[in-house]
Amino acid sequence: MPSIEMIPINKTLIGEEEIRAALSVLRSGKLTDKSGSGTNVVQFERVFSKYIGTKYAVAVNSGTAALHAALLAVGVGKDDEVIVPSFTFVATAEAVALTGARPVFADINPQTYCIDPEEVEAAITSRTRAIIPVHLYGLMSDMDKITKIARDHSIVVIEDAAQAHGAEFHGSKAGKLGDMSCFSFYGSKNMTTGEGGIVTTDNSEFADAVRSIRNHGEAEEYQSIMIGHNYRMSELAAAIGLPQLLKLPKFLEARRRNAGALFNMLEDISELQLPVVPEGFGHAWYVFTVRMKGANAAKRNNVVKRIRERFVDAKIYYPKPIHLFSYYRDRFGSTKLPKTETTTKQVFSLPVHPSLRENEINRIVNVVKNAFQSE
Ligand SMILES: Cc1ncc(COP(=O)(O)O)c(C=O)c1O
Repeated sequence: MPSIEMIPINKTLIGEEEIRAALSVLRSGKLTDKSGSGTNVVQFERVFSKYIGTKYAVAVNSGTAALHAALLAVGVGKDDEVIVPSFTFVATAEAVALTGARPVFADINPQTYCIDPEEVEAAITSRTRAIIPVHLYGLMSDMDKITKIARDHSIVVIEDAAQAHGAEFHGSKAGKLGDMSCFSFYGSKNMTTGEGGIVTTDNSEFADAVRSIRNHGEAEEYQSIMIGHNYRMSELAAAIGLPQLLKLPKFLEARRRNAGALFNMLEDISELQLPVVPEGFGHAWYVFTVRMKGANAAKRNNVVKRIRERFVDAKIYYPKPIHLFSYYRDRFGSTKLPKTETTTKQVFSLPVHPSLRENEINRIVNVVKNAFQSE
């Protein structure tokens, strides 16, 4: 009997273009550049900033590095506070903690799963230096309200767009509306360089600072003028990023098509809240996340187990909010975030990636329906 293969939650799509680009870098022998500004990196930055619509883009070697470097560029450090959602990948809060500042967790909108602007406003103190809205699962946060709050309080906005390449908010791309924005190019993301990240901005001072921070705070060779790190992107990664970026619109089109099919076929499962896409938002469909209305964690975990047993890679992003991790609770105190805590017990995500074929989408739907029928 042929074995059934798991339909993965995400899939890295590498074609001949990426292979040729990587080979060309390998043949050139120039795999890195000591300032971090090699030919491929500079070209990748130029094309990426054009795609987003910002003046600058500075490539680094992970999304976490992008967030940390952006916060350092603002000068965030000890005694400062940065408002973040707790319902996100740990890197968002980790980058804040790495600067010595305190991550202040704000609750989410339970429909969109993104940080709730009213909760952001309520969390502002005289120590708040920045807000990091996370565009979770590929849906942008409410950037109008967040940028207005930030302006009123003279606070910087750093978008965490790690999951949102190509997402839109009333015609602006993710990465355009914050003072700085951070992307990840990890293998599972909407486009990849293997490992990698980038900071986009219209602010030349922030761009210069991030460029310096990615290379040990150097202003010129062996002249460090501030604290930095080795956050340089390799030439190999940048070369792979270029064809990936050119393919991104097609990837997004396929993600949208797959999401539409999942929507149509799952809408009759009354236990499920399907993803909500508010008017004016363009979803980038990193994953297709559903909520089991009224469920507890055990019930949700059971459904996910049954789906996985039938070879569909359903995943829980994220089973535990960051404010409940002991590292964060012990250092930054306990917070109550009821909407976040309920959501972490009820959501699970399904594959929606571009390489899904029609029969695989049908299989995902049947497996999910079966998992509910045997409830
Ligand atoms: C929301 C979010 N922020 C930050 C990151 C960190 O990116 P990276 O894994 O490239 O360091 C990720 C990546 O998984 C993410 O999903």
